[in-house]
Amino acid sequence: MSKNILDYETVDLDEQDNSVVIIDQTKLPGRIEIVRLYTAQEIWDAIYLLKVRGAPAIGVAAAFGIYVLARQMEEETEGDYDAFYERFAQQKDYLNSARPTAVNLSWALNRMDRVCQKAHEEEKSMEQILELLEKEAKRIKEEDIQVCQSIGEYGLSLVKPGDGILTHCNAGQLATCKYGTATAPIYLGQERGYGFRVFADETRPLLQGARLTAFELHSAGVDVTLICDNMSAMVMKKGWVNAVFVGCDRVAANGDVANKIGTSVVAAVAKRYGVPFYVCAPTSTIDLATPTGEEICIEERPPEEVTEMWYREPMAPEGVKVFNPAFDVTDHELITAIVTEHGIARAPFTESLKKLLALS
Ligand code: MRU
Repeated sequence: MSKNILDYETVDLDEQDNSVVIIDQTKLPGRIEIVRLYTAQEIWDAIYLLKVRGAPAIGVAAAFGIYVLARQMEEETEGDYDAFYERFAQQKDYLNSARPTAVNLSWALNRMDRVCQKAHEEEKSMEQILELLEKEAKRIKEEDIQVCQSIGEYGLSLVKPGDGILTHCNAGQLATCKYGTATAPIYLGQERGYGFRVFADETRPLLQGARLTAFELHSAGVDVTLICDNMSAMVMKKGWVNAVFVGCDRVAANGDVANKIGTSVVAAVAKRYGVPFYVCAPTSTIDLATPTGEEICIEERPPEEVTEMWYREPMAPEGVKVFNPAFDVTDHELITAIVTEHGIARAPFTESLKKLLALS
């Protein structure tokens, strides 16, 4: 029997080969292509070009990435910790510059950095430092699986069998290490015979909803219907949607949420039709250092992604001005609840998010 997309690891480490192993998501759904990343440039490119994407998966890829690079640096610097750490810090900053919005990238790299510095303070040998870095990267991945499962349980408590669920972009297994965040309640519901009807927004311009969410849910046997981004109002007005679940890239202290461009439109439409709008967020995505959505840096991407990238022929006049923000901010007033691995946060988010973070 041929392997299902869900049987593959989104991100993995090959210890023998000292490489990061990913599915090249730009090739999906047409082809499942496994790619190995060895150099800082390859890892940076894979994150920037969205070969590996989705906030949690980016964090795990960066953690494995900095570990792979640390092994190489250790050889090059011949046991000199100061020379090693100088390069480690440079490579960490370089990987962190690949994408600005998802806080999981810097969160994972900072975790790796802290392990490195603490081990040095404790006078560990270089080999021990590398072992601790490897352990930490693997822990980040393992935790992600548990976190997603827990988000799934909390999310499932918000819906009932037979419900219609709408989701935007891909906050699925392909964006994490298993279950996804927004899709976790869907997968757990599927295991328990909930019979959800899912609507996946195609998610212009890079079509993560069509290429990735529809692909993975369809492969899992979930009842999924692909819709264009401009159809969410129609399906909500018809009463086909009982809840919206989306992922997120950064939650500000006041509960404003950055997620894939178009998310805030879905939230406004959901409010209009009285559909609860749930954001699924590991606590690693909550950034109390960012007070509101205003301060979140929104990545802008090349115009070609809008005009031609996924089309056989250009879909816009040559030279036309294009605005291509990769994310938008949904105001906390439009969010019914934020579902984390430690529980469900509701307004006022300034307090509820702090309380949930204290549990992590
Ligand atoms: O540009 P992408 O594909 O990385 O954007 C992904 C999203 O916006 C996801 O919804 C978000 O990262 C959460 S993934 C669990």
